[in-house]
Amino acid sequence: MLDRPVTTLDAAERRGPAKPNLLSVEDAKAMPVETMADLFKSHINPGQFHFMKLLGFHKVKIERAEGMFYTDQNGRKILDFFGGFGSLAHGHNHPRVLAARERFQEEKRHEIAIAFLSQYAAALAKNIAACSPGELDMVFLGSTGSEAMEAAIKVAERASGRKNCKVVHAENSFHGKSKGVLSITDSTLYQGEFKLVDNRVKVPFGDLEALKRAVENDRDIGVVVLETVQGGGGIIGAPTEYWQGVRALCDRHGVIWVADEVQCGYGRTGRFYAFEHHGVVPDVTALAKSLGAGKAAVGAMIARRDVYMKAYGSPKTAMIHAQATFGGIGEACVTAIEGLNVLYDEDLIGNSADTGAYLLARLKTIQAKYPTIIKEVRGQGLMVGLEFQDFSRTLPLALRPMVAMLDDKLKGSLSGFIGALLLRDYDVLVAFTEYNRNVIRLEPPLICGEEHVDQFCDALDDLLGRGIVAIVKDFVKSQLG
Ligand SMILES: Cc1ncc(COP(=O)(O)O)c(C=O)c1O
Repeated sequence: MLDRPVTTLDAAERRGPAKPNLLSVEDAKAMPVETMADLFKSHINPGQFHFMKLLGFHKVKIERAEGMFYTDQNGRKILDFFGGFGSLAHGHNHPRVLAARERFQEEKRHEIAIAFLSQYAAALAKNIAACSPGELDMVFLGSTGSEAMEAAIKVAERASGRKNCKVVHAENSFHGKSKGVLSITDSTLYQGEFKLVDNRVKVPFGDLEALKRAVENDRDIGVVVLETVQGGGGIIGAPTEYWQGVRALCDRHGVIWVADEVQCGYGRTGRFYAFEHHGVVPDVTALAKSLGAGKAAVGAMIARRDVYMKAYGSPKTAMIHAQATFGGIGEACVTAIEGLNVLYDEDLIGNSADTGAYLLARLKTIQAKYPTIIKEVRGQGLMVGLEFQDFSRTLPLALRPMVAMLDDKLKGSLSGFIGALLLRDYDVLVAFTEYNRNVIRLEPPLICGEEHVDQFCDALDDLLGRGIVAIVKDFVKSQLG
């Protein structure tokens, strides 16, 4: 029962400010695609809109999302091989996840878990610990991958025991855009000209000797942070010897190893964590993206108990980095609890391994058919990178002036053209890669079946069959028209 009725007051009865001109939920739902585009430009990011328009994405308004597909305003079904950069393991709107959220709402459960403990946050932390190997038992709950990684760096820095602790990170790393982790995100674009934390040391990814040299020559290095598979870098992994070397090196020097599994974790590569392929366990790790089961914003830092206790184990240190306002919020936790249960009940990790192997095999066949277009196919499970040859030099001379008219971002990059045409002509969505514009990232939901792989691969095969000249001409024409 509400303790006061909901009413819409007349202006004369009002004691507070007049209601501004607000759109309602129904207004948002019914908004034409052009209005949506105008409001994005006016109030969110006009520069980003420029890129959406280059790729033709500004003409799409999504009305529904279910399983492997989006449905747009014209009833067109779009196959999702992007998967929100790995945020949609369960597919869109998984019925069990929706039902758990509805029950939680009907029961009018509490959301903010600051004043009272939360049974849901406690259960989620227990579940995450149960999914994590070794002594990865202590869980910090937040809302994003960046927040989880901030927590990871902080717990590691304190546990390292170094007074002037330095953090090693890798070339082409991506750990988020909040100011702390931005310092170890290797992108001049994202780093802008911000004043960053300077206690960092950069090494090439996958180069054990370089890491050894760094750690052995600088006793202040107390933390090593690495994505197990670099996502933003273009789906780049490293061999088992590297990871076992990282573990041994960190053990030898009392350095804390933080594995960023925000993108590659949660079953994406065919194991719950990607590091499990290599028989090693880090000291600290982080999850986000699919942890929210495609419906909620949830991130988690998971630390070995002794590491956590060293950093925040006493009543005096406990509140140095306790969870923020939305950490462990009710419905997000319920969503994540149900999501983890679905992940195992439906064997989505097994499916990721099997369907991922099928996808890789089909893509390798396509690569063999178009070796002058596809340079490499790589990945594991349903985390796959498709790297195109740099065509800016191989393109026939006659077409080069045409390409020169395009935006700088697109000039050397086939992936933009191919992504745009896959959406326009084949109803397939793929993801681009921040640091390597020649790479398309394929991270479909882990519910993906062979029939979806076939739909995607048939579309790609047909598009590439048009030949590079036709693809470039067609794309450039779409820009000019
Ligand atoms: C490896 C990795 N770490 C951290 C992040 C940051 O996550 P979020 O965007 O949720 O802050 C991302 C996001 O793409 C990521 O891929």
